[in-house]
Amino acid sequence: MRLLFLGDVVGRSGRRAVTEELPRLRARYQLDFVAINGENAAGGFGITEAILVDLLDAGADVVTLGNHAFDQKEALVFIERQPRLIRPINYPPGTPGKGSGIFKAANGADVLVINAMGLIFMPELSDPFRAIDAEIEACRLKQGADAIVIDFHAEATSEKQALGYFVDGRASCVVGTHTHAPTADERVLPGGTAFISDIGMCGDYQSVLGMAKDEPINRFLTKIPRSRLEPSMGPATISGLAVEIDDRTGLAVRTQGLRLGGVLAPTEPLFWVE
Ligand SMILES: [Fe+2]
Ligand SMILES: [Fe+2]
Repeated sequence: MRLLFLGDVVGRSGRRAVTEELPRLRARYQLDFVAINGENAAGGFGITEAILVDLLDAGADVVTLGNHAFDQKEALVFIERQPRLIRPINYPPGTPGKGSGIFKAANGADVLVINAMGLIFMPELSDPFRAIDAEIEACRLKQGADAIVIDFHAEATSEKQALGYFVDGRASCVVGTHTHAPTADERVLPGGTAFISDIGMCGDYQSVLGMAKDEPINRFLTKIPRSRLEPSMGPATISGLAVEIDDRTGLAVRTQGLRLGGVLAPTEPLFWVE
């Protein structure tokens, strides 16, 4: 199975790059399953239903979230009627939406996708390790699901790496999201779980985390907000992770970071074109 996971889409620049390039990427690499983190898609803060539909129409099978999940208050309502949108599983009981779901891939595989949020420098949610453990033990690889994909939305690389090894051999891949800066440590762990500390963002990298840089600089200098944070509107880099999953085991065979467009060095073509 051929999986692509794209990092946090930031604002209009990120959305435009994804909606323009994803159909081509799906066709070129015959992707079976595409997941996108959409927590910053609406002006950098949260997601609207119209934007969610645009991302799904462009070729996403599922959209995940993070600490900005409910910045757009309408998400508290429409997440209940949009099963392809999931939010971190370790929010308090009663939070709208779900933290996981099983989705059909183009090759017929049942893919369990779990979204969870880390605890270091993040809101105080419940333990993501135990929440993820309960999910993957209730729906084991090749028993309940053909593939298991985890978006671990966390700040600390230590927490993300610990989670990766915690589920190694029990999940197809763990992608870190949230920092908006791609790391170069993608690999298949010894047990067969593909891992990356952070897949980066889909947004304009001539920015601070995808936001126009003047106001972040001002806030670091003066500690006084002067204006709203607005997404940077230069050309976006699409950033994500490609994973080839063995259909017999549900574990990863190989993995490669994808960066395309904008100012980062491109990593196309992916290994599926050799
Ligand atoms: Fe983000
Ligand atoms: Fe985040």
